[in-house]
Amino acid sequence: MARLCRAFLCLVLVFCAAGYGAAWKEAEFRKCHQSKFCKDVRERAAAWARGEGGSNLEVKGLRVTDEGRVAARLIPGGNEQQALVLELSAYRDGIVRTKVAEENALRKRFELPDVVVADFEAKRLKIDRIAEKDGASVVELSGYDVIIQHKPFLIQVQRGGDLVLSINSKNLFEIEHLRVKKEGDDWEDSFRSHTDNRPYGPQTVSFDVSFHGSDHVYGIPERATSFALKPTKGPSINNHEPYRLFNLDVFEYLDESPFGLYGSIPVMVSHSKKGTTGFFLLNAAEMQIDVLAPGWEHMGIEQVVDASSSDKVLTSQNEEKRVDSHWIVESGVFDAFVFVGPSPKDVVTQYCAVTGTSAIPQLFSTAYHQCRWNYKDEADVAGVDAGFDEYDIPYDTIWLDIEHTDGKKYFTWDKNLFPNPKEMQNKIAAKGRHMVTIVDPHMKRDDGYSLHKEATSHGYYVKDRDGKDFDGWCWPGASSYLDMLNSEVRSWWANKFSYSNYVGSTPILYIWNDMNEPSVFNGPEATMPKDAIHYGGVEHRDLHNAYGYYFHMGSVQGLLKREGGKDRPFVLSRAIFAGTQKVGAIWTGDNTADWKHVRISVPMLLALGVTGIANAGADVGGFFGNPDPEMLTRWYQLGTYYPFFRGHGHLDTKRREPWLFGEPYTSLMREAISARYQILPYVYTLFKEASVTGVPLVRPLWMEFPEDEATFARDDEFLLGPSLLVHGVYSEGAKSEMVYFPGNETWYDVKSGTTFPGGKEMEIPVSLQSGIPVYQRAGTIIPKKLRHRRSSTQMLNDPYTLVVALDSNYEAEGELYIDDGKTYEFEKGAFIHRRFKFVKGKLTSTNLAPSKSNPKKFTSPCLVERIVIMGVRARDLVTGKGAVVEGERWIQTDIGAPSLIPGAHSSALILRLPNVRIADDWSIKLG
Ligand code: NOJ
Repeated sequence: MARLCRAFLCLVLVFCAAGYGAAWKEAEFRKCHQSKFCKDVRERAAAWARGEGGSNLEVKGLRVTDEGRVAARLIPGGNEQQALVLELSAYRDGIVRTKVAEENALRKRFELPDVVVADFEAKRLKIDRIAEKDGASVVELSGYDVIIQHKPFLIQVQRGGDLVLSINSKNLFEIEHLRVKKEGDDWEDSFRSHTDNRPYGPQTVSFDVSFHGSDHVYGIPERATSFALKPTKGPSINNHEPYRLFNLDVFEYLDESPFGLYGSIPVMVSHSKKGTTGFFLLNAAEMQIDVLAPGWEHMGIEQVVDASSSDKVLTSQNEEKRVDSHWIVESGVFDAFVFVGPSPKDVVTQYCAVTGTSAIPQLFSTAYHQCRWNYKDEADVAGVDAGFDEYDIPYDTIWLDIEHTDGKKYFTWDKNLFPNPKEMQNKIAAKGRHMVTIVDPHMKRDDGYSLHKEATSHGYYVKDRDGKDFDGWCWPGASSYLDMLNSEVRSWWANKFSYSNYVGSTPILYIWNDMNEPSVFNGPEATMPKDAIHYGGVEHRDLHNAYGYYFHMGSVQGLLKREGGKDRPFVLSRAIFAGTQKVGAIWTGDNTADWKHVRISVPMLLALGVTGIANAGADVGGFFGNPDPEMLTRWYQLGTYYPFFRGHGHLDTKRREPWLFGEPYTSLMREAISARYQILPYVYTLFKEASVTGVPLVRPLWMEFPEDEATFARDDEFLLGPSLLVHGVYSEGAKSEMVYFPGNETWYDVKSGTTFPGGKEMEIPVSLQSGIPVYQRAGTIIPKKLRHRRSSTQMLNDPYTLVVALDSNYEAEGELYIDDGKTYEFEKGAFIHRRFKFVKGKLTSTNLAPSKSNPKKFTSPCLVERIVIMGVRARDLVTGKGAVVEGERWIQTDIGAPSLIPGAHSSALILRLPNVRIADDWSIKLG
């Protein structure tokens, strides 16, 4: 009977968790005032700001250490007992790191390892002198100064003489000293049916950061809200919940909410015409961040003032432009990094110098993925695979969700549904395609499950507050959670991906990590209790936001081990933290088939991009609900330009493979997916760039046009790399879209070649057939492959088309990066990196890298089969006039549409069959 009840409870929980028909339930998630730490600090901050007290820190004993860092003591309100210590270090290329901790701590606070890259310390500059100026200490660095004011404590960063960032200008810096519990202290914190014991009591770290000279701040993903962050506190603010960073499995998230979702990246970026500045707090505890509007201190914690608009400019007239923010962190340390820019790309690169650049993906994973919860059995997989061929739609990877397993025991197969997994994969592999299976972090507590038995006997699970293996509910029912903070557990886990351990896996099988926030259906807010205990006695509270990151890391290690370190892994993760980019790809979780979710995917990807996550996508079609064919088509047209491009849907939704909707939809979805395959050479080149510099694929317009103020609050369009402007269509039956063309340059419609001047917003007519508005920037060259194939693998030796978009100087340039798309051989120089330049009527291809002397060369037999030149002068637009390859040979030319789509407006000169090799140096002259 007990077993029956347990099974029933499990069913109920699974049913609820799957979100069957249930909309997002606000009441199930904590608001700031429902968490003691947040409520206390927020109220205290408002009182301090009204002049009722303050942290009043004073700097004492500031000096330069032998190591070349700045060190000082911070004394709050003259109370030496509560002294803090400050350490400030400078790093090459515009990075400052500041740490503040208690001088005499009752217990060592947790400092998160494994996020800052190993070689970061090597970039440290030795500070050898401090100047004194107006009672403040000044550290002069190249291009910027760090000023430490003594009383009250204040850090200011000045770039080229302009104040760009300050810490503690509002006097809100506070670290709550750990203390011994006294009688009467009530440390427990309850929410709904859960009580957090808070055994170490209040220990918040809170402070204010101001971004000077700008009206906008961005970042702190993951949430479904506008890219430019609206103020959360102040008069005229409707929604005054702070932005929350606490990884949660949020069912049916809303499309416009400050609420934190599956991932947390504590990075905020400000941008103005004068430059870009970034701030990163290395801390994985729950965080609540207020963006303050002037007059915020007069707002009580419960007070809500209704107003028509909450997104107006944050600063009032006559005041300096600035955005103030208040960070409330439940525990851990103050370990902050400032990135001084000055350009938007510099800031991302500086941040990635700390946390790592994007992992370079395998080429196949940059193509289209077909997923569904669930492809039912082997026949279903074969049918879907055949369907893509029958309807002539390319795809690279088919995914299996949780139902493929034997009772949600990961690394197993349901023997009835998937009796021959290897054979199934081999058939997929024969077409150059791949498969992904899901592996979640909850382990079924089943004695017959060898992984569970091993993990239990080794003591590899996270413990509950009583020291027992934590037992929570997830897909399999009773589950325990691997303690991935422990590198020994990660290493053990990694071994499970070997072919001998993961029976039925083959070399084309890759991995999907879901539910790694972690999701615990019966836990507080559907996650793990904060007082659960990890390796080394670390409370879950301290590392919650990084749990999924560690799990992702362990799985990636597994695939690396499986291939002896030779091939690049592919593991998609739902939970994210700072540094996830160096581990692998992510997606934005359970969105909904709703036009608003098509729209919100863009700011979500923009926020991820400026915080280093280059490889991200949203579920095309929407996870919950059934998209109508128009919405699905529009979503595919946008998804073409997501860095990670996958169609996915909930178990309960109707099947939605692209051919199920009839014409014109099937053809339009085919066209959208094919458009992705055509730009794969460009996309892969961008991934290479992200792996070197951290600069994301999806870029806000201001990343390429930093001085164009009209772009600062714009998030309905984005740039894919430097060259493509993408504007989605976000409503049913849309007849036109207002497109903003940034900068002073011309933009070419990628299909018709029609040009539009920069610096203007224009109403662009759209139809489902025309697709979404996409433009190539004048002055760029985009490499493409236009032959229609079944998968990216089958395109490997296909010839290239170069699409040249001339600017007003009659010039253009672009790049192409190629390697084997699979291994790490590129690290030894096995790659091709070309630069194309069109100047004075001549297109030239030269070698960018590797150097000629490099011993390990990668070659490609691929030819250039076509060069499309948009913007050519009338006198060059003469059919049959010809072009000359290296002065030797005439090649055929004609005039056509740049996308080669019949009937499109003709404005491009097409050089056919130049047949030069992509790997060689060559030049082609017009006329
Ligand atoms: C939740 C994930 O977000 C979703 O993509 C997946 O299909 C379900 N879990 C089932 O595994």
